[in-house]
Amino acid sequence: MSVATPPHIPVLFNQVFELLEPEPGDFVVDCTLGMSGHARELVERIGPTGRLLGFDLDPQHIAEARVTLGGMPLDSLELRQESFSALGGLVESGKVPPVDRLLADLGFASSQMDDHERGLSFSHDGPLDMRLGPDVGPSAADLVNTLDEQELAGLIHRFGEERRARPIARAIIHARSQQPIQTTGQLADLVRQVFGLRPGQPMFTRRGRIDPATRTFMALRIAVNQELEHLDRLLRDMPAIMAPGGRVAIISFHSLEDRPVKQAMRSWSDQGWGRRITRKPVVADERERCENPRSRSAKLRVFAFESAREARCPDRNTMERFGARGGDWIGERPEDPAADPYRPQRKRRR
Ligand SMILES: C[S@@+](CC[C@H](N)C(=O)[O-])C[C@H]1O[C@@H](n2cnc3c(N)ncnc32)[C@H](O)[C@@H]1O
Repeated sequence: MSVATPPHIPVLFNQVFELLEPEPGDFVVDCTLGMSGHARELVERIGPTGRLLGFDLDPQHIAEARVTLGGMPLDSLELRQESFSALGGLVESGKVPPVDRLLADLGFASSQMDDHERGLSFSHDGPLDMRLGPDVGPSAADLVNTLDEQELAGLIHRFGEERRARPIARAIIHARSQQPIQTTGQLADLVRQVFGLRPGQPMFTRRGRIDPATRTFMALRIAVNQELEHLDRLLRDMPAIMAPGGRVAIISFHSLEDRPVKQAMRSWSDQGWGRRITRKPVVADERERCENPRSRSAKLRVFAFESAREARCPDRNTMERFGARGGDWIGERPEDPAADPYRPQRKRRR
């Protein structure tokens, strides 16, 4: 069951458009359409000669974007229900041209968090699912009920930066030996018990109240949706994706996302491919933080590619592989999902 959702407020809205500077006629990509809050403004800015390509894993968001953006004057609109990590391949194959402006507002939308059937939140009991789209692989319940103790502890520690990952993993293994863990409530209570709390009892930290289940839920969401893997692939392909003069804006919500973005932008700058428009991440001002609590953890980084795409790819053979427009993948492209370092391998319970 879903609760009534408050109106959608796109995060760091003014800052994104001040720094991304989309112009009439641009080819823009919104990697994470969500409720089309940013996309609508992108379309306004690029005008009737502009082109927009939008991605989202969630078919509902794609359907809503079709309605919201479909009636707006635009030269072309393409909406794809798949991961933004497919963009590199689309540019490589010449199906889409190099990109003038790209926005990625990472993570999940508030509407997804508020939909209890998705199991992203433990504020209400719901199925332990966490998939942002139907094509995403195993659910959180699948992982929790099949991974072994070491894999679970590794996942919770790595993606949740949770210090008590081991006892939590142990408690999960013990609980599921009695009955499978199927709901958000079951898992949240189990984690709270590891912290010596009663079901529903919050924990007090120096930063205020935090439910001890928060980090475990974040870890599972990241693992289920392969969030860091998709981001890494996009960052790796970015130098080939962007047109000369192209700008990239990325909004991240936790350090595991922000760190690779910061490192990628620094490396592009060190290689002389362009400049960091934001040396330090742009964060929400006091007013936005009050009006939209989700903005409190948002960090915006923007980079401008200034070099020719050829300069980003000194290897002529590589250029030829990517067709007449040229391309410049750096490094190998792991097409084999089994080679994915972030994907926890599913194991059968004995
Ligand atoms: C924070 S919301 C975007 C909000 C949007 N900027 C707006 O103004 O409404 C993030 C969206 O990205 C989608 N998403 C998350 N990971 C994705 C991925 N790898 N590929 C495509 N979409 C993704 C989610 O389904 C969600 O709709």
